[in-house]
Amino acid sequence: MATNPEIERRRTFAIVAHPDAGKTSLTEKFLLFGGQIQVAGAVKSNKIKKTATSDWMDIEKQRGISVTTSVMEFDYKDYKVNILDTPGHQDFAEDTYRTLTAVDSVIIVVDGAKGVETQTRKLMEVCRMRNTPVIIFVNKMDREAKDPFDLMDELEEELVIQVRPLTWPIESGPRFKGVYNLYEHNLNLFQPSKQVVTEKVEVNIHTEELDNRIGHDLADKLRGELELIEGVYPEFNVNEYLKGEVAPVFFGSALNNFGVEELLNTFVEIAPSPRPVKAEERTVMPDEPKFTGFVFKITANIDPNHRSCIAFCKVCSGKFSRNVPYYHVRHDKTMRFSSPTQFMAQRKTTVDEAWAGDIIGLPDNGTFKIGDTLTEGEKLHFRGLPSFSPEMFKYIENADPMKQKQLAKGIDQLMDEGVAQLFVNQFNGRKIIGTVGQLQFEVIQYRLEHEYNAKCRWEPVSLYKACWIESDDPAELEAFKKRKYQYMAKDREGRDVFLADSGYVLQMAQMDFKHIKFHFTSEF
Ligand code: G4P
Repeated sequence: MATNPEIERRRTFAIVAHPDAGKTSLTEKFLLFGGQIQVAGAVKSNKIKKTATSDWMDIEKQRGISVTTSVMEFDYKDYKVNILDTPGHQDFAEDTYRTLTAVDSVIIVVDGAKGVETQTRKLMEVCRMRNTPVIIFVNKMDREAKDPFDLMDELEEELVIQVRPLTWPIESGPRFKGVYNLYEHNLNLFQPSKQVVTEKVEVNIHTEELDNRIGHDLADKLRGELELIEGVYPEFNVNEYLKGEVAPVFFGSALNNFGVEELLNTFVEIAPSPRPVKAEERTVMPDEPKFTGFVFKITANIDPNHRSCIAFCKVCSGKFSRNVPYYHVRHDKTMRFSSPTQFMAQRKTTVDEAWAGDIIGLPDNGTFKIGDTLTEGEKLHFRGLPSFSPEMFKYIENADPMKQKQLAKGIDQLMDEGVAQLFVNQFNGRKIIGTVGQLQFEVIQYRLEHEYNAKCRWEPVSLYKACWIESDDPAELEAFKKRKYQYMAKDREGRDVFLADSGYVLQMAQMDFKHIKFHFTSEF
């Protein structure tokens, strides 16, 4: 735990969810409590409506992409809350994974009727890789939901984490009466409303008052269920949560602002303040006096007249100050920043200082790459999240012979931003772009044209997976590369990548070359 009160009071986290589970609604309610907005409905959803054409400009307009919505900061009670926004569309999943490298904890929103969905599962995997503490919010209880005990089992099985309910729902859908708070031992009765926060009542569940409030049958049922919960689930232990072993679960309805205040109150109380961050050289403690930080995201400026980007830097330790020279480790040079920004809901302002846990926006003209480290002189390298093998692959070709240079530069910079992954086939020298979804190809094409004045064309290549390969047996590695020479590529760091064109081919390769390790992520 940090000893500096400025750092100790910071809570930096992300709200993540499968699209449509209610992330935007919950974020908005948090901002209401934080006093950042006055009425519900003020936050623009950054999700892409399903009806949208896949034209990038439309998407941009819909998302209202503005860097100001990428981080939301506010003071709540004695805490400084930093919410990192993540894109709603699953084609931008890689962006979300990277954002998770900069948070100290996560709130996962699950739709009570749908339970755990694909995207939730993947996001949880990333949290597990980093032992990120997780709180689960089961949303939309005002709609018919799954049985809460079944949901608990599903969360535990599908997300591979122990769960512990801290509130418990009384029915759902039209019969939804509210939630019982197992942590504070009070009852929160549901009243559908988007603006009003419902009053809580202290109720001794063993008295008739409970029957009077929710009716005899439901009161009896609730008593039985609470007894079962106390019997089945071990008492909630904050340390287990902080270690990422147990996820506390809350129920509510973000749309109706119900159960959200309890969630926020418990969150600020139990969620970790900035955690130590591992660099290749050593672990950096947040309250070390010297500033260190790393870039985890780069966002293009959507104003086409303004080519500059914003690099998002997470302050890992100490205090960052404006106009003070800092050391850019990869470039081995000193830089100072005259207009670093911080973000307040819809606005962004220049800041003079920021503390460990904070996110600052640094104007960038191609000086930053994802994972770049800034320090006060120490040669540190923070480890980012490994790249995952992409799901889709296409050859990228130049469509305007006069603009070869522009295209090369554009591809280079977009890859630095982490828009997609680039592999160069060693056999024919062709460039292959790997993405998570189709939308990314469109984004790249659009941006190359509008920001770099270059035109590209996509050509199909049928590939199944990109595997980073290594071996303790150099002879076998060479033999493999020779045998598969048509399918060997290099990633941007010059590492060997095997492009398997089918699951079967990969399986055979694994069987034939027992001393070669095939990795599906770039860090191993
Ligand atoms: P997302 O960011 O995770 O994609 O979800 P978002 O908050 O945008 O919510 C998705 C849809 O679910 C929205 O409806 C939203 O109003 C609704 N929703 C969110 N929380 C609740 C809840 O607690 N109860 C109920 N009944 N609905 C909820 P939409 O029709 O897609 O959009 P909108 O027209 O309401 O904005």
